[in-house]
Amino acid sequence: MPNVIKVQLGARSYPIHIGAGLLPQLGALAAPLLRGRNALLVSDSHVHPLFGETVAASLRAAGFKVAHSVVPAGEASKCGEQLFALYEAAKQAGLDRAGIVVALGGGVVGDLAGYLAASWLRGIAFVQVPTTLLAMVDSSVGGKTGINLPSGKNLVGAFHQPALVVADLETFATLPPRETRAGLAEVVKYGCISDAQFFQTLEKHAALFSKPWKNLAADERELFAQVIARCCELKAQVVAGDEREESGLRALLNFGHTLGHAIETATGYGAVLHGEAVAIGMVKAAQLSVRLSGLSAAEAARIEQLLMQLGLPVRAQALAWPELKAAMTLDKKAQGGVPRFVLLKKLGEAISGCVVPEEVLQAAGTELDGSAA
Ligand SMILES: NC(=O)c1ccc[n+]([C@@H]2O[C@H](COP(=O)([O-])OP(=O)(O)OC[C@H]3O[C@@H](n4cnc5c(N)ncnc54)[C@H](O)[C@@H]3O)[C@@H](O)[C@H]2O)c1
Ligand SMILES: [Zn+2]
Repeated sequence: MPNVIKVQLGARSYPIHIGAGLLPQLGALAAPLLRGRNALLVSDSHVHPLFGETVAASLRAAGFKVAHSVVPAGEASKCGEQLFALYEAAKQAGLDRAGIVVALGGGVVGDLAGYLAASWLRGIAFVQVPTTLLAMVDSSVGGKTGINLPSGKNLVGAFHQPALVVADLETFATLPPRETRAGLAEVVKYGCISDAQFFQTLEKHAALFSKPWKNLAADERELFAQVIARCCELKAQVVAGDEREESGLRALLNFGHTLGHAIETATGYGAVLHGEAVAIGMVKAAQLSVRLSGLSAAEAARIEQLLMQLGLPVRAQALAWPELKAAMTLDKKAQGGVPRFVLLKKLGEAISGCVVPEEVLQAAGTELDGSAA
C-alpha cells in the first residue's frame, strides 16, 4: 500500500490512488495535476460531516480555496433539482473554467458532481474521492457521469473523466455493512466478466469481506486493498479500450445491469441498493447464459453461491413483470426498444449486446416474483 493505477487515455490519462489514510494527502496529490485553485467540494449529508473537513483542510493546505455543497444522502439526490442547485453553488463559488469540482462520497455524489463538472461552463476539471466500496471499484473510475429521470436511471449524462481518483480505505470504518455488501456485487461482476482466477480468490476469502473494517488484521486489509486495486485495474483496461462504449468492450461492465437497473426503476430509486439489484440481475443473467451462451450450470451456481455468501440478495420479490419489462425497454442499453444483455460463455468471459428471445425473457422475468415457474 498504497497502490497507484493509471487509466491510460492519452492526454486525459489519470491516476487512481488506493490506500489507507489518503484523505489528508488529497491536496498534495491534486495540486500538481490541476491548474486552478478554486474548488467546490460536493458531498452528501452522511459523508460531509465525517470527512468534509479533513478533505477541505488538505485542499486548503495545498493552496486551494474551498466552497462546500452538501446534498441529501441517497439515490434520490441524483436528480435535476439537485443538479440545478449545484449550478447555483458553482456560480456563488465563482467557479470559472479553471475551477474544480471535488466529489466526496459514494456513486451518487460522484455521478451528480461529475455531471456538474461535465456540464458547468461546458466542462471543468474534477476529482473523485470515493467513500463507498462501490464507488471505489466502479463508479469513480471511467468518466461516466449523470443523473436519473423519474422514468429511468442515468438517462441524462456525459462522459467526463476525472483528473484524479483518491480512494482512502479508512473511510470503510463508517460505511454501513449493507453498503459494503452492495459494493461487493460489482467486485464479483469483474470476476464473472473478465477474470476467473480473481473470482476464485473471492470465493476463497468470502468470509473476510463480511468482517467490519476495524476487525480486519493488517494482512486482511492488504488483501482487501489488492482486491479493490484489481477491480480498478480491470475497469481501467476496459475504459482505455473503449472509453465511450462504442466497441462493445465497455458494455461488458453492464453484466447484471439490464435487469438490475429495471429493478431499481421499478422499485423506486433507493429501496433496493444498486449493488443489490445488480446481484439479482447477475444471477438472472447467469441463468440466461446457461440457456443461451454456453455457461455451465455449475458455474452459474457458483456465481449465485458466492453472492449469497457475501450476504447479497439473489432473487427479486414482489416485482411485476410488466413494470420490469417497461423499465428494460426504456433502459439506455436497449436498442430499438429491445433490451440488450451481457451473457457469459464461461466464468471470466462475457459477450455484450445479446438479444434474449421474448418468451425466454418473459419466463425468466415471471420467475422473479414467483408468479410462474
Ligand atoms: N458512473 C458509473 O460508472 C457508475 C457505476 C456504478 C454505479 N454508479 C452509480 O452509483 C450509485 C450508487 O453508488 P453507492 O452505492 O456508492 O451509493 P451512495 O452514493 O448512495 O452511497 C451509499 C450510502 O452510503 C453513505 N456513505 C458513503 N460513504 C460513506 C462512508 N464512508 N461512511 C458512511 N456512510 C457513507 C452515503 O451517504 C449513502 O447513504 C448509483 O446511482 C449508480 O447508478 C455509477
Ligand atoms: Zn453498477
